[in-house]
Amino acid sequence: MDWAVALAPGADLDGFRRAARGLIAVEAPPGAVDWSGGALFGEAPPDGPPLILPRRAGALIQSCVRHADPERFALLYQLVWRIHRGERALAEIASDPLVHRLEQMDKAVRREIHKMHAFVRFRRIEEEPGHERFAAWFEPEHFVLESAALFFVDRFRSMRWSILTPLGSVFWDGAALDFGPPARREDAPDGDPFEDGWRAYYESTFNPARVNPRMMASEMPRRYWRNLPEAAAIPDMIRGAPARVREMIEREASAPMKRNPDKAVAAMADQRPKTLEALNRIIAAADPFVSGGTRAVLGEGPLTPAIALVGEQAGDQEDVQGRPFVGPAGQLLDRALAEAGLDRTDLYVTNAVKHFKFVQDGKRRLHKSPTAGEVSHYRWWLDKELELVRPRVIVALGATAALALAGKPMPVTKCRGETSFENRRGVITYHPSYLLRVPDAARKAEAWGQFVDDLRLARALAG
Ligand code: URA
Repeated sequence: MDWAVALAPGADLDGFRRAARGLIAVEAPPGAVDWSGGALFGEAPPDGPPLILPRRAGALIQSCVRHADPERFALLYQLVWRIHRGERALAEIASDPLVHRLEQMDKAVRREIHKMHAFVRFRRIEEEPGHERFAAWFEPEHFVLESAALFFVDRFRSMRWSILTPLGSVFWDGAALDFGPPARREDAPDGDPFEDGWRAYYESTFNPARVNPRMMASEMPRRYWRNLPEAAAIPDMIRGAPARVREMIEREASAPMKRNPDKAVAAMADQRPKTLEALNRIIAAADPFVSGGTRAVLGEGPLTPAIALVGEQAGDQEDVQGRPFVGPAGQLLDRALAEAGLDRTDLYVTNAVKHFKFVQDGKRRLHKSPTAGEVSHYRWWLDKELELVRPRVIVALGATAALALAGKPMPVTKCRGETSFENRRGVITYHPSYLLRVPDAARKAEAWGQFVDDLRLARALAG
């Protein structure tokens, strides 16, 4: 062995390229190079001129350096060497044993990136109030953290989060990514309040009639299960599947032929939840009735509060965090509540529509207002929820909430102020997003004053 290469641990793409350039410059054949990093003898290669490689070869190198196989660099150098020796189209020849092996590695790396996107689960870490952080523990088989991280930046740009893995860690502070050393399982939080939500969501998307444990294990390989809150439900779901299918068949047989959303609502109402927890379980397990909506965003707050605030529907941030009014509209609402002398933790906060309706526009998820039909579908939940929460006064934030509460259109500009929602004492006011959108500064100040006044009115009505 004449040459010895020492690369940084993991996917040292730059180090490999530098070494390959130097080795080609000195015409070092693959058999004369030790890539193990532990060679006692052998010279480090010098620098060399840039190598011009066919596109497919470059792509294979970029991907395969991320594979955990300790032979990856030696294999990639064989590819570079043979191309340099005249086999320019080598990377396109899938039947070549070397290329075949590299393609398998490339596939495994791409699959691992995909699995990481799908199976990272963030847990909330409360630092100080208003300074939440999220952390996830993940155990990738290959060095894919850097390739996978940008996906999470796009998805959770405004949050602060870390992903910890035994192969390295990454931290996003809302502005820049910072890659750090490997982490240990115990560095990551163990669970958070939304754990049950993931489980309920997964159970609700599980179709017992289609259960195929082998397929499930290939889509969600077992090695990911231990870090997925929802995976705890899998063994029980598989075990219970035959009975659930039997139940479904019996139910189908006795159900009227025509199925429509109202029937689905009626079936849920038939379960007659007696507590808010029982109702929430039904909501969390139901399919979204609007396009988008990855999870149900449930109401939160104490029972029998002075005031319940009802918004339109969860937004992007609410869908991400699983809590109502935590995005920009929520921040504005918090400010107005403080100005009106109200403490949000004393109030109950919920939405007329429990899922985030959106259209995907490239990487962005654009809010879409719910239709009257969609609002009506969710009315049963809202009604039941308020019956169980028993607020003294209900505040409709915006026209959609007013429609859901009153069962008829009540435009905010005409109906602002005290009202009654089917015998429940209420107040209609603006939706905080409206205040964010008013372009004219003077009108904005006026609307802000009215919004705070309406909240004060609700406070006075609640006694
Ligand atoms: N807008 C709403 O109506 N509700 C939320 O929870 C967030 C934004």
